[in-house]
Amino acid sequence: MLSLSNHSGTMTDGDGFDLTSFPNGARALVVGASRGIGLAVALDLAGSPQVERLFVASRKPEASSAMAELVDAAAIPVETLAIDVVDEASVVAAARSLALRTQRLDLIINCAGMLHDGAGLAPERKLAHVVPSNLDKLFRIHGTAPLLLAKHFGALLPRRERFVFASLSARVGSIGDNRLGGWYGYRVSKAAHNMAIKTLSVELARRSRAGVCVALHPGTVDTDLSRPFSERVPTDKLFTPARASRQLLSVIDSLESRDNGGFFAWDGSRIPW
Ligand SMILES: NC(=O)c1ccc[n+]([C@@H]2O[C@H](COP(=O)([O-])OP(=O)(O)OC[C@H]3O[C@@H](n4cnc5c(N)ncnc54)[C@H](OP(=O)(O)O)[C@@H]3O)[C@@H](O)[C@H]2O)c1
Repeated sequence: MLSLSNHSGTMTDGDGFDLTSFPNGARALVVGASRGIGLAVALDLAGSPQVERLFVASRKPEASSAMAELVDAAAIPVETLAIDVVDEASVVAAARSLALRTQRLDLIINCAGMLHDGAGLAPERKLAHVVPSNLDKLFRIHGTAPLLLAKHFGALLPRRERFVFASLSARVGSIGDNRLGGWYGYRVSKAAHNMAIKTLSVELARRSRAGVCVALHPGTVDTDLSRPFSERVPTDKLFTPARASRQLLSVIDSLESRDNGGFFAWDGSRIPW
């Protein structure tokens, strides 16, 4: 069994996540794979018996030692891509480069996201903290990016066969579930994300009726993104990235075409929009 240093996830050699709903020889792309949940998902996919080729993306793959270790240690070919999901030219360049290497992607998982940036963008406790430029930033990474990824990588999704396009949302993006308020920028941008996914699901269903496009809530996961705010989360409700990945991949594996356009939590339950 292989594992990466400085990472709570493990990459198993021939003993990875069994994605039984996908055919052998599946090809997958994980965006936002340099750390956190995306890295854990990439580790699991690299050890999955069904996955024959894996592409992992972040803004600067060369700066992520974890991605480099994954590439070196994986038993299957794992290739890195540089993608800044808020920059269309970067998405176009990455999609062109990928199209030279594969004609098909069975699974695309978008894990790129932001809650704070260490430079003035942080969850707002009240209206007075709302800064328009911060909302713009969050809107672009959560609302626009899934559409750019689908626009430029969508041509690689198979026609007529099963594919999954999954993008990580957050329960706080649910309008129906909003009882606490606050976190304006993150909530608004994740609600936009959810509408993007729902609208995209209608168009992608025309490509293949067996295709599924969903928004997923990973639970509260111990990552750079949540750490400044997870102090009071009970330990049994704070998942490791490795556990979150397994839970999300289980949900993905169980998705059927009737689930297209849904918003699901880590345990497979539906979240109200
Ligand atoms: N952690 C939680 O408790 C939690 C709860 C609910 C929802 N979520 C959602 O789950 C997703 C993953 O969160 P996480 O906790 O794993 O966060 P994380 O540890 O902070 O990782 C974020 C990932 O997004 C990538 N990223 C950020 N901006 C990007 C950009 N412009 N272009 C490309 N990649 C970019 C980062 O890569 P680089 O910075 O290296 O480029 C990194 O790989 C997010 O959408 C988040 O909103 C997380």
